[in-house]
Amino acid sequence: MTRRQALKSTALAAAGLAVVGNTLPAQAQAQQPAPPTGPFTLPPLPYAPNALEPHIDAQTMSLHHDKHHQAYVNNLNIALKDHPDLQKMTVEDLLRKLDTLPEAIRTAVRNNAGGHANHTMFWKIMAAPGKGGGGNPSGELANAIFADLGGVDKLKTAFNEAGTKVFGSGWVFVAVDPKENHKLKLVSKPNQDSVLTDGMVPLFGNDVWEHAYYLKYQNKRADYLTAWWNVLAWDAVAARYSGIKAGKVTL
Ligand SMILES: [Fe+2]
Repeated sequence: MTRRQALKSTALAAAGLAVVGNTLPAQAQAQQPAPPTGPFTLPPLPYAPNALEPHIDAQTMSLHHDKHHQAYVNNLNIALKDHPDLQKMTVEDLLRKLDTLPEAIRTAVRNNAGGHANHTMFWKIMAAPGKGGGGNPSGELANAIFADLGGVDKLKTAFNEAGTKVFGSGWVFVAVDPKENHKLKLVSKPNQDSVLTDGMVPLFGNDVWEHAYYLKYQNKRADYLTAWWNVLAWDAVAARYSGIKAGKVTL
């Protein structure tokens, strides 16, 4: 038995599955039906997985997008499979109206619609360092950050501090609050909770789940938070800010 086969046998034994040759028993395969293919689908990554190197490594990006984000999409579709009325809703509306959803699926939708929404935003607000990523905001966005959050340097310090303080898994966002004249707010959230549920729109945010950084940064989350500003696409964020204020960008 090769080392790889031995590892596989050990893993399967730990999962309570017998190994017959290299094939799982038919019963085990039957326990894992393919998830529904819709209504929600995984948006493609808008750049190559290695585009954000060296700040976010290609393997992390591939796993994060192809496996983790896909899992949120799959589990959201599973949660809604017996609810054709809810399948017609946007992910934004599912999160805004979370309190009105059937209790039996509310937590699954909170986690998985939240995961789908948060990651959909996340891929869009990053770009290769020096090619849209990094630098500083300008114009209307810079003015708003100064007025509402004390300026870019103060924002970065507060944002990084909030990111290190998230216990376990979660996110740090700068959100736009339409209820307060589109004021910018620094908000941290546990798990996959969304600012949409609070009536706000995410302007940008950083994922501080270990799956976002552990392969490269291990336990050094603060280093990841510092490096991440090199891939934040300020022009994309500025376009989102204008779009959110005009009611055209909702996620
Ligand atoms: Fe993530």
